[in-house]
Amino acid sequence: MNRSELIKAYLDFFKSKGHAIIKSASLVPENDPTVLFTTAGMHPLVPYLLGQKHPMGTRLADVQKCIRTTDIEGVGDQRHLTFFEMLGNWSLGDYFKNEAIMWSYEFLIKILKFNPSKLHVTVFEGNKDIPRDEESADIWKKLGVNAEHIHYLPEDDNFWIQGTGIGPCGPCTEMFIDTGLKPCGPNCSPGCKCKKYLEIWNDVFMEYNKTKEGKYEKLKNKNVDTGMGVERALTILSNKDNVYETNLFLPVIKILEDKTGKKYAKFEKSFRVIMDHVRAATFILGDNKPVLPSNKDQGYVLRRLIRRAVRHSRTLGVEKGLLTPIAEHYIKEFKNEYPELAKNETLIITELKKEEEKFLETLEKGLHEFNKLSNKDIIASDAFLLYQSFGFPLEMITELAAEKGIKVDVEGFKKEYAKHQETSKLGSEQKFKGGLADNSTETTKLHTVAHLMLESLNKVLNTSVHQRGSNITPERLRFDFSFDRKMTPEELKKVEDLVNQKIKEGIRVVCKEMSLDDAKKCGARGEFEHKYGEKVKVYLIGEFSKEICGGPHAANTNELGHFKILKEEASSAGVRRIKAVLE
Ligand code: SER
Repeated sequence: MNRSELIKAYLDFFKSKGHAIIKSASLVPENDPTVLFTTAGMHPLVPYLLGQKHPMGTRLADVQKCIRTTDIEGVGDQRHLTFFEMLGNWSLGDYFKNEAIMWSYEFLIKILKFNPSKLHVTVFEGNKDIPRDEESADIWKKLGVNAEHIHYLPEDDNFWIQGTGIGPCGPCTEMFIDTGLKPCGPNCSPGCKCKKYLEIWNDVFMEYNKTKEGKYEKLKNKNVDTGMGVERALTILSNKDNVYETNLFLPVIKILEDKTGKKYAKFEKSFRVIMDHVRAATFILGDNKPVLPSNKDQGYVLRRLIRRAVRHSRTLGVEKGLLTPIAEHYIKEFKNEYPELAKNETLIITELKKEEEKFLETLEKGLHEFNKLSNKDIIASDAFLLYQSFGFPLEMITELAAEKGIKVDVEGFKKEYAKHQETSKLGSEQKFKGGLADNSTETTKLHTVAHLMLESLNKVLNTSVHQRGSNITPERLRFDFSFDRKMTPEELKKVEDLVNQKIKEGIRVVCKEMSLDDAKKCGARGEFEHKYGEKVKVYLIGEFSKEICGGPHAANTNELGHFKILKEEASSAGVRRIKAVLE
């Protein structure tokens, strides 16, 4: 089974069980300032898991593009990836443990054709707050899973919550395939790190919300959230223990071998880094909300990925031009599920080339400098010099150092870096962990004012202005939009005034569900329309603003307070950024 066949089989299966198939959300989370990228299939669905109604119903399934940046350094071994796809099915207060487990079993055994005797499962053993999950264990038993194949494990293994440790959560049951390898010891079980049992799927029973204070509250609904990593599943299905040797990456290995004349077997690490990083970069550049290389946030992750790939193509003896044929391959391979890649093909290729050229201007000199500095451990100021003057990302410096058997003062580098940065509210490390959408009153109000602002920008600038992204914390709104020059102080004042006028008018905010076609017909703006599939929510603020949006929103504009623009600046080519607050 190849990747497309697996995705199709999964989505068809859940469609036959009454699930609406939704499109993958953007890689850049909306209104979630705690993380840079979408980290799991459930991530864009957090508001719905917390109780909001989803326009497509209570049974959903999808394949979601995800990025986890904590894994950048890990890439090069057999299994770490920064970009991956996650298959998932959800029940939003619809079915619960019984159907979820039954369908997982049916899909694994009947569709993927695993031998039932190879299946092992884990369930939550319970803790002081949440009881032992006997219910799941009983369902597995009824399906015929041998009691010896059901393992009770603690919170660390079988209680799922996002990286931040707050939000919708619950006990989970995970499914493993026994590879037939010898047990690593007397306690060998699916919980251990050895490769005997490979995890294929995770069913989370989300009936709690963990608060900031550490309390478990019952959610309005009992939800199911499942996740199956496509790459992991393909690895298991092809009886491999290495994701890079599945049919997903074999064609890319072939391209690399042809272009470099080097063999994968001899240069595994560089091959893997290039294969993974170019795939992630292709998806970030080719997102529904394209991100360009920069020194900040998502743009900096992208820059680091491209630069590390360029460095490794040099290791393979190719100075230039190795990345784009691989990106072209990925666009072809993935455009069926993610048409935005084809739409953004020119941008992807142009930007990859540009960033490669930019880095090549300093790479040679930087490596020369590194060689001079590397007769001993690298001190913080030298690491910072490599970063600032030659554009070497930190992980590239530590990687080069490791190749020479020396160390880098990473903590010292971070201090040096912080000194030079505008200290942002969230430390960069925090941003790299998991997170969830914040639905506080403050963020909700800022979200509503963003609609008023987008409309006002369109009216004041008298041209078609599109939203290019937004990032909302309880304190402020950051809003990116398409416009190709600096706004004048008069224009900014006019936008402020128009928004404040609409706030004063006390207009009711109304949500209507309709088909995408009807939404378009009624003139609703929608940058994220592809996310919700056929049926969408349109938020109407009187006659003034109509926007396709997931919500949530304030009920009336008179709740919003006084709107103030703090700053208007360039974000990237053709995109401006406004920072604004409600006072
Ligand atoms: N949220 C769970 C995971 O990421 C299941 O989807 O594994």
